[in-house]
Formats: sequence, C-alpha cells, structure tokens
Amino acid sequence: MPDTRHDETSRYVIRRYRDEDEPALRSVCVKTGKSGGDATDWIPGGLLPDIYLSPYVRYAPDLATVVDGPHGPCGYIVAVGDTAAFVAWYREHWLPRFRAAHPLVEPPRTAANRLTRTGYHPEGFLGPDQDLFPAHMHIDLLPMAQGRGLGRLLIRRLLSQLRMRGVTGVQLGVGESNHRARRFYEHIGFRPLPTTRDNPLQLCIGTDKEV
Ligand SMILES: CC(C)(COP(=O)(O)OP(=O)(O)OC[C@H]1O[C@@H](n2cnc3c(N)ncnc32)[C@H](O)[C@@H]1OP(=O)(O)O)[C@@H](O)C(=O)NCCC(=O)NCCS
Repeated sequence: MPDTRHDETSRYVIRRYRDEDEPALRSVCVKTGKSGGDATDWIPGGLLPDIYLSPYVRYAPDLATVVDGPHGPCGYIVAVGDTAAFVAWYREHWLPRFRAAHPLVEPPRTAANRLTRTGYHPEGFLGPDQDLFPAHMHIDLLPMAQGRGLGRLLIRRLLSQLRMRGVTGVQLGVGESNHRARRFYEHIGFRPLPTTRDNPLQLCIGTDKEV
C-alpha cells in the first residue's frame, strides 16, 4: 500500500504516523474529545490523549495514520491489533506514568475524575468477542477535515493493514451522545458485537469487509 494518498481536493493527505506528530495529534484528540466536539474546557490537561492517543502511538506506531491538512495534522486513526497484549503492555509500561501524571480521586466528583479512573483500568478496552474482533481503534478528525471521505479512507486503510497481519476484526466503543459518529460507523458497515447485539455503543467490523 502506498504511504501517502490524496483526497479529492489534494489539500488533505493520508500518511503514516511519525513520532513528531504526537503533540499535534494530542491536540486533535482534545478538540474532538467531547462526543466529537471540543473538550478543552471540559477535561483539563492531557488526560484525554493520555488515555486515547499517546499509549496507542507508543505501542503501535505502525497502525497509526495521520491526515495532514492545509495547516498540519488534522486527524488520525490509531489502533492495536491485539487488545489483550496491549492491555498487558499498558499495565506494565504506561500505567506507572499515567498514575504519576493523573492522581486518582475517589469517589469521582467530575467527568475528569471518572475519566482518570478509566485510565487506571485498561482492561476496560477488552470488549467481548475478542476471538473474532481482537483489534480496537480510535478515529478523530477536526471539523475542517470532516465530511470529505477521509474517515472512510482511514478505516479502509486500517482494515487492510490488519488483514495483512492476519487480524480478523476490529471493535470500538462510541459515546452515548455521539450520534453523528454512530451513524457514520453504521453507514460504512460497522455492526454491534455478536454477543452484545442490543448494545449500539460497542461496534465491530471484520477485516474482510469493504468499507
Ligand atoms: C466520525 C468521523 C470519524 C467520520 O469521518 P468523516 O470523514 O467525517 O466521514 P466520511 O466523510 O468519511 O463519511 C463516509 C460516509 O459516511 C457518511 N456519514 C458520515 N457521517 C454520517 C452521519 N452522521 N450520518 C450518516 N452518514 C454519515 C458520509 O455521508 C459518507 O457516505 P458516502 O460515502 O456513502 O457518501 C469524523 O466526523 C470525526 O472524526 N468526528 C469527530 C470525532 C469523533 O466523533 N470521532 C469518533 C469517536 S467514536
């Protein structure tokens, strides 16, 4: 697969992740972290990207893809192919740093307190049906990059990468209030996990599917 690809306007380029992208992608993570909207004033500091961005690009940089826009990185997809192995790595290598940066507040009083607790329990990333859908992913595009077909392209590229590694499927969690993202995933072919068919917030797709 080519390393870069141009979209219809050629102003947005999809390319492989590089280490120097991490700060810009952390910013994208915050600006899209409140059900797709800007979480800057909702979740302070680096809490969101310390859970949903940095561990992924450190653990699996080869499965991270960046969208470059007119003003630099404006979107990404990150994933791990084997969630159980990722959880073990997170516990050993990431959690000590996370604990130092984000003290636990019990009982949690704010959204940030609750999110901190999420970061202390990476086993929460392990959804059901790991045998069929062992990978999981996160995708975020700034508003300027949305609605251009880039989300579909990012997921298509990830499915191809995972398929080439023999990974059979990927799953993801979507926030209850993020109706827009849920409709997007359903539109391109994601479906509820087999064992939790009634739960529309945990979705999956096989890597043999075309999106
Ligand atoms: C959700 C998101 C990844 C979608 O990516 P996108 O680039 O905007 O979507 P695309 O332009 O690739 O859309 C692909 C297809 O899905 C459709 N689609 C997109 N959003 C849709 C929606 N809300 N309802 C119905 N269809 C939708 C598009 O019309 C398009 O269909 P077509 O190709 O058949 O014409 C992106 O909007 C985003 O990052 N949002 C903010 C962060 C976020 O919510 N991330 C997900 C967290 S779980």
